[in-house]
Parts: sequence; structure tokens; C-alpha cells
Amino acid sequence: MVRERPWPSRRSRPGILQCIVFTGLGIIVLVSLVVLIFWLVVRPKALEYTVDDARVYGFNLTASHALNATFDLTLRSYNRNHRVSVYYDFMEVTVWYDDQMVAFTEVAPFYQRRRNVTTLDVIAAATSTPLLGSVEKSLKHDRSAGKVGLEVRVRARIRLKVGVVKTKHYTLRVYCAPVLVSFSATPTFDRVYCDVDI
Ligand SMILES: *[C@@H]1O[C@H](CO)[C@@H](O)[C@H](O)[C@H]1NC(C)=O
Ligand SMILES: *[C@@H]1O[C@H](CO)[C@@H](O)[C@H](O)[C@H]1NC(C)=O
Ligand SMILES: *[C@@H]1O[C@H](CO)[C@@H](O)[C@H](O)[C@H]1NC(C)=O
Repeated sequence: MVRERPWPSRRSRPGILQCIVFTGLGIIVLVSLVVLIFWLVVRPKALEYTVDDARVYGFNLTASHALNATFDLTLRSYNRNHRVSVYYDFMEVTVWYDDQMVAFTEVAPFYQRRRNVTTLDVIAAATSTPLLGSVEKSLKHDRSAGKVGLEVRVRARIRLKVGVVKTKHYTLRVYCAPVLVSFSATPTFDRVYCDVDI
């Protein structure tokens, strides 16, 4: 005797659905595991930036509302990672005062190994940089007070390297403030720790 199965498709439909659900779950678990293992092996750590020294030379605010100055900055870039090295393919450093950019420079591309500290000596010059009225006023005030509070920003295009794998480009942004630069002949400087975003 053949048993009657009037709705054979009824039985297979939940089967397919279950199959899809379990496969989906399986893939999610697998991907999570791979990510977790990668994370545990690589243990990525944020890149660290500090401003170790900052000086200003040739500061001159003229009657034409323009600034001449040379900012001599010592940036310390620390790659704390044991397994990740960094290609810096492009880097620019800007100096800001009161939300106005007053000086700008580019840093030559470099490769940073694991656990490496790279000291960047950066010279950013303001050459007849036109100033907003309010900026000029507070800059004059700071000049006579003997100290100017700046913000140093870094923008870089980086790629990370783990083993033989290189990632795509990311934009690294670094914000260092307040960077207090003294006009005294024998300036002292306190290290400034920067915020780093990728
Ligand atoms: C600023 O520049 C003007 C014109 O070049 C010059 O006369 C003046 O001495 C300079 N001031 C300082 C503080 O260097
Ligand atoms: C970091 O790398 C640079 C360039 O390869 C090298 O000159 C420097 O000595 C390294 N610094 C440390 C602390 O390893
Ligand atoms: C500022 O620098 C520019 C370019 O070097 C120069 O022409 C100008 O005279 C300077 N101004 C002052 C006040 O030093």
C-alpha cells in the first residue's frame, strides 16, 4: 500500500526554512569567531601622538593684519602594536589659533614598524597669513602675555600592515590642544597628549 501524502510540499517547506536559518546562524558564528581570533592574535592598539616641544620664531604681526611666524614642532608618533605596522602615505600638519588655520606643512611619507617611536620635527610657517580681526586681537593679547595657546592638527592617509596583509587607506586625524608656546628666550614646554581618530 502507498500511504497517501496529500501535501508533500507542506513537509519540505519548514525544512528549507530551518536549513536557511541554521546556515545563516552558522555563518554568523563562523565570521564572529574569525574576527575574535584575529582580534586576539593582532590585539590592535590605538596609535599614540604627543607634542613634545613647540617653539615659535620670527613672530611678527604687522599693521596689514597678517602674521609671519615659524612654528617649530616636535611630534612623537608611537605605534604601540606588536603585530601592526603603518604606512604613512600622506601627512599634513596644521597649526590653528582660535579656529583659524595659521600655518601648514606636509611631512614626507614614511613607514612605521611595530613598537616604533618616530620623532617628527615639523616646521610650519605662517607667511603673511591674513588674520580675522578677532584672531589678530587675541593673538596680540597673547603675545604681550608671553604665551600663545595653539592647536596642532595632523591629518594622514595610512594603511595598516598585519603580516603580509595590507589594508585599504584610512584617514588618521590627530588633535593636540592646548599647545602652549612661550615667547620667552628660554622656553619650557609640557608634553601635550593628543586625541587620535581613525
Ligand atoms: C616686524 O616686521 C617689521 C617689518 O618688516 C619690522 O620693522 C619689525 O621690526 C618686525 N618686528 C619684530 C618684532 O620682529
Ligand atoms: C623607528 O623607526 C625609524 C625609521 O625606521 C628609526 O629611524 C627609529 O630609530 C625607530 N625608533 C625606534 C625607537 O625603534
Ligand atoms: C612676512 O614674510 C613675507 C615673506 O617672506 C615678507 O615679504 C614680509 O615682509 C614679512 N613681513 C614682516 C612684517 O616681516
